Amino acid sequence: MKRILVLNGPNLNMLGKREPDVYGRETYEEIMTELSSYIDAKGFKADFYQSNIEGELINRIHSAIGFYDYIIINPGAFTHTSVALRDALLSVSIPFIEVHLSNIFSREPFRHHSYLSDVAKGVITGFGKYSYFMAVDFLFRIM
Ligand code: DQA
Repeated sequence: MKRILVLNGPNLNMLGKREPDVYGRETYEEIMTELSSYIDAKGFKADFYQSNIEGELINRIHSAIGFYDYIIINPGAFTHTSVALRDALLSVSIPFIEVHLSNIFSREPFRHHSYLSDVAKGVITGFGKYSYFMAVDFLFRIM
């Protein structure tokens, strides 16, 4: 059975409360529960991890080595700041998809650059919670 690690970075635990006009009214738990059922139905095994702490995300990526076939990651604001997260993802050689709920290119200029995009398999941005589901749909087609 193929294994997927779903990672979420800082402030994504605040979904539902946080800027609902940008990120929607559903909570992190609601979205990840629905995503978990969707992944199960596709026949994959998934684990989920969220942290507000850069080093914890990096440690989780390191411990993923050899265990997961793909990573789906919403790095939150670390998208725009973290060379360390980029290096961690490259260090484990697990292909990953970068997802964002909002369209980072229609927002402030500082969100237009990602330290991950050029080394990601692809980027899905702007489809709300469906950005995560679209990543799973891609994996269903290729794995
Ligand atoms: C985000 C976009 C980032 O710019 C922002 O810092 C986030 C969420 C998104 O899902 O739209 O925290 O990754």
